Amino acid sequence: MQMDSSLYNEVLYLCTMSQTTEKAKQLTGEDKFKNIVSHAKEYGFIFQSSEIYENGLSAVYDYGQYGAELKKNIREYWWRAMVQMHDNIVGIDAAIFMHPTTWKASGHVDAFNDPLIDNRDSKKRYRADVLIEDAMAKIEEKINKEVEKAAKRFGETFDAAMFRSTNARVVEYQNKIDATLSRFKTALENNNMEELKQIIIDMEIACPISGTRNWTDVRQFNLMFSTQLGSVAGESDTIYLRPETAQGIFVNFLNVQKTGRMKIPFGIAQTGKAFRNEIVARQFIFRMREFEQMEMQFFVRPGTENEWYEKWKQTRISWHRTLGFPEAKYRFHDHIKLAHYAKAACDIEFEFPFGFKELEGIHSRSDFDLKQHEQYSGKKLQYFDPELNQSYVPYVIETSIGLDRMFLATMSQAYQIETLEDGSERVVLNLPPFLAPIKAAILPLLNKDGLPEKAAEIVNLLKYDHIVTSEDKDTIGKRYRRQDAIGTPYCITVDHQTLEDNTVTIRERDTMKQERVHINELARIIDERVSMTAALKKL
Ligand code: GAP
Repeated sequence: MQMDSSLYNEVLYLCTMSQTTEKAKQLTGEDKFKNIVSHAKEYGFIFQSSEIYENGLSAVYDYGQYGAELKKNIREYWWRAMVQMHDNIVGIDAAIFMHPTTWKASGHVDAFNDPLIDNRDSKKRYRADVLIEDAMAKIEEKINKEVEKAAKRFGETFDAAMFRSTNARVVEYQNKIDATLSRFKTALENNNMEELKQIIIDMEIACPISGTRNWTDVRQFNLMFSTQLGSVAGESDTIYLRPETAQGIFVNFLNVQKTGRMKIPFGIAQTGKAFRNEIVARQFIFRMREFEQMEMQFFVRPGTENEWYEKWKQTRISWHRTLGFPEAKYRFHDHIKLAHYAKAACDIEFEFPFGFKELEGIHSRSDFDLKQHEQYSGKKLQYFDPELNQSYVPYVIETSIGLDRMFLATMSQAYQIETLEDGSERVVLNLPPFLAPIKAAILPLLNKDGLPEKAAEIVNLLKYDHIVTSEDKDTIGKRYRRQDAIGTPYCITVDHQTLEDNTVTIRERDTMKQERVHINELARIIDERVSMTAALKKL
């Protein structure tokens, strides 16, 4: 009996995921992160921008030959899931430059700030809110350790909830978190910078570099990059590089609604570059100054926003889970401080090698943006609802994910060091095949006897539908390892038997198993196994 191809892929993927986890050398935290950063450079995924000049521009990165393909495939997975799979979502591509009043209306000129604090000894600058959040997370970690220890001690009879509410040390830690959280929330809501500094002092937070608590005052810093339009510098000519793609959607709301005859509820999706003058830009491509967003604004009837907010939370987590990464790697986190536009907001957090951090935001933005643009432009941005026979400004649910951050999450999960049966190690990128930069490598066993020519024929057969490559240098073993490190799911080996009977071997990246198939079967097999369709059908 022939197994359904999507089922085959799923079974194969799940089997290999568990084998890999068993074999994988357990690299954690900083070490794993360092390995990923150097792997990304060594194998042509990501380079520091303009690196030849004094080590390049900080917090700006270029995608190399494999990085560009992987990024393109992630973008495609998002775009198809949003636009192709929903008949009420359309995609646009708005310009990066927008009329400067856009950013006055959106609130970015006045409120797109980070609270910054400097340590006078190390001269390092930090985000005050991040210092406080990290300090609270450390206390949370202490609680979890206490709970873990107690669970081991008491065995099956252990009641974690009871322990958390009665153990003196845990209760003390929890009280500290609750009290800090409440002060923190109020300080953020009131833009109270003195109070933020006081919390840092009260929590005895020290600079990780100098170890001292010699802090400056906290002050606000606007994150937008500005430039001049035309040749004359002057206040009236100042325009901004967009700090989010969302506003390009809002200002085009009526254009799209009318020309596309869209009926509410409907969505507008867009991917594109955004720019933020991040002061504390660290952690590789996690926080960059130039990055790419994939955003979707979903316009709904007022009063239905809570229902759609919940629905989009589920739809987006399902998009992530369909990649097959462990469920425990994701969690929802409700925002402590709501952005100036938000009525409700949460993040989908991913466990990066440096801990759980925001990967995607889901925001219930009310009618804030459209109303602001109505007010500042003097143009009506309303929808006539034929069912209600009335016009209104729609409410908006936004889903917003950083493409680069998604790239980092994918690389972090895919990167594995396996110990093989013979004791040797191999580095493998365990990417879902539909995301892999190269789908198949065609490898002539030897660089002679007509084998390279036969390999070129196979490249020609497959290249119209897939990115494939051919390599004839080095031993076959070394070439397999190189493709493993790039994440190529299939290596097709051409040997002397190929010349006799037109068969080749296909080696599967994760299991390293090989099967012999006829060349006539190759296109169908590769198509089935690297297709994105199976993933999209699961959404
Ligand atoms: N339109 C809403 C908005 O822009 P955000 O939470 O500021 O919301 C959305 O950004 C997503 O963009 C984040 O979840 C993150 O994935 C990504 N992102 C934000 N700032 C980034 C940066 N400096 N570098 C890389 N990605 C970033």
